[in-house]
Amino acid sequence: MTPYPDIKTAVAIWQKSISEMSVWIAEQHLREYIFHTVGVGESAAKIASCCNLDYEKAYVLGLLHDYGKKQSQKQTGKSHFMVGYDDLMLLGWSDAARINLTHSFPEQNFDYKDYSSYPFDDLRRAKELIRDIVYDDYDKLIQLCDLFFEGTAIVSFQKRLKNICYRYNLKKEQIARLEKKASENKAYFDAKCGCNVYELLHIEK
Ligand SMILES: [Fe+2]
Repeated sequence: MTPYPDIKTAVAIWQKSISEMSVWIAEQHLREYIFHTVGVGESAAKIASCCNLDYEKAYVLGLLHDYGKKQSQKQTGKSHFMVGYDDLMLLGWSDAARINLTHSFPEQNFDYKDYSSYPFDDLRRAKELIRDIVYDDYDKLIQLCDLFFEGTAIVSFQKRLKNICYRYNLKKEQIARLEKKASENKAYFDAKCGCNVYELLHIEK
């Protein structure tokens, strides 16, 4: 068994997550979740096919990277990254589970204070789980593509980080570190693809 589902199974699980969400989430937010997850999957697959990575794996990991958002943290008291990790591990798809954690924490040794909207126990578990992982091309790819989709628009990571900063009132230093990480990831895939991924994905700089 591969550590991630095939496309058909991934789409079926993703559709199930949408029906679960539709019970408690506003219609507009559901539309944004659909746009975001499909967008991350498609852009990851597009970049993957340009640099000899497995585009099917990239698509599946992108589509399921926010799987844990099917449940509301307010109701369950559990963060989306931990719901996604635990549920996908139970299904036996450890790579898809891992992405739910790694895309949330571009910095492995993150500061708890920077993520205070999440339950502390989840942050402690996540930190422990990612501590010894060496982030691979798929972790980096989904971290990067996650920053290209804002609401129902495809945007540069600079624009998305600016919006995130405004929305969550993040500290300047944290945003600077996230920007540096995203810049490194983008430069990595620009070099790997031999082109500017913004041009590949038709993203305005
Ligand atoms: Fe996401």
